[in-house]
Amino acid sequence: HRIWAVIPAAGIGQRAVAHSTAAATTQPPLPKQYHRLLGRSLLAHTLHAFAQVPTICHTVVVIAPDDTVFASQTEHAFARTQAWPVGGASRAASVRNGLAVLATHYQAQPEDWVLVHDAARCLITPEWIERLIQACQNDAIGGLLALPLPDTLKEEQPRSASSGLDEGGKPARVAQTVPRSGKWLAHTPQMFRLGLLQAALDGNNLPSITDEASAIELAGHAPQLVPSSAQNFKVTYPEDFALAEAVLRARNE
Ligand code: C5P
Repeated sequence: HRIWAVIPAAGIGQRAVAHSTAAATTQPPLPKQYHRLLGRSLLAHTLHAFAQVPTICHTVVVIAPDDTVFASQTEHAFARTQAWPVGGASRAASVRNGLAVLATHYQAQPEDWVLVHDAARCLITPEWIERLIQACQNDAIGGLLALPLPDTLKEEQPRSASSGLDEGGKPARVAQTVPRSGKWLAHTPQMFRLGLLQAALDGNNLPSITDEASAIELAGHAPQLVPSSAQNFKVTYPEDFALAEAVLRARNE
């Protein structure tokens, strides 16, 4: 069975731009996947890693319907890689649309494997992608790269103002400590059979589904947890750009 990849890259990166100066100007902020690290966009770093894995026959990049950046930059041109402007209202909707492109335009089969990877996890390496493929390709269900939780986990008390990032609201207070043993952070890529994943994402509550594995779990299956690296973090907050760049710089030394 063939192995495909879908890279959702149709978000705007609300948390990454919220505190930047771009938010204060009239210009729409540059989506975070197009921020540059060592002279190359986050998305180009990600696509470079996937293009170096020969067992992946093709990568579909899901961009926003109104995206003007991708096609204007030659750095995004990689072998066996094509962008499709079919981004949806949520990450899961973008992934669902990317899977439909594979089935419709590339004749991908339900039993084929598909790897889904966040554009914003731009420190991914070909070796980690291959580790996931190795672990999953003889598995009945598939699985995901994940990291045993390094920190102690706190659950907050219910509050009226719900976000822990709100400045004016009541401070968050601990309701309880959740034992961290046996807890993992879900990373990407996540690797499942195309048909199984399409069926799992066929519901209408897509915004609540924040990774593929949770949709597979809701369908009654148990994905495999494959050890990831702490460096495979998702660039999410403004300070993450400098951190990601430092990792890339250290790798080049
Ligand atoms: O916002 P977050 O970091 O969780 O997004 C994860 C990935 O999903 C990013 O690569 C983002 O571009 C993508 N995404 C998408 N379509 C959306 C929202 C997010 O492709 N509607």
